[in-house]
Amino acid sequence: MRTSEPFFLLVLLLVGMAWLTACAGDTDTATTSAPEATDAHAGKTLYENFCLSCHGPSGKGDGPAAATLHPQPADLMALLQTHDDASLTTRIAEGKAGTAMPAWRDVLNETQIRQILAYLRAEKQAGQSSTYSSPNETPTERAVNTPSP
Ligand code: HEC
Repeated sequence: MRTSEPFFLLVLLLVGMAWLTACAGDTDTATTSAPEATDAHAGKTLYENFCLSCHGPSGKGDGPAAATLHPQPADLMALLQTHDDASLTTRIAEGKAGTAMPAWRDVLNETQIRQILAYLRAEKQAGQSSTYSSPNETPTERAVNTPSP
């Protein structure tokens, strides 16, 4: 029995470490394995807080701040069609030099950016399959109608 004692202590130590790691992981990666719907739900709030003012309620680049920006914010619905999530994640994290698009890497982590993309993709699907209500005027029309300062 004496020979197994160190082994037993080692097992205890490993179990303890695994437990600690699991607990630490819980706090900031709790949403990593969440299903798509939960991602989209969290993404909606993030989008509304950080992106809507420029990219607009429907992601088409027609937010309240858009009229004052040159270039205008990107049409995210169009970008979703031509870019995969990996490349969009990089673009969002790094921002776009020479435009009003900020780098989000210090504000949002990769999980949060993925949640925003999940929300936008869900919105896009909803728009394709049914009576997706977009504002009557296009961003271009609005920009034209807005008197320049
Ligand atoms: C202050 C206004 C503003 C905010 C806030 C903003 N964007 Fe942008 N975004 C822009 C502008 C302007 C562009 C550049 C459009 C262009 O290049 O023609 C842009 C471009 C983009 C692009 C394309 C980048 C590329 O490389 O072409 C993506 C994707 C994007 N935004 C996503 C987001 C997301 C997601 C958020 C919220 C986390 C966000 N933006 C918040 C203004 C904004």
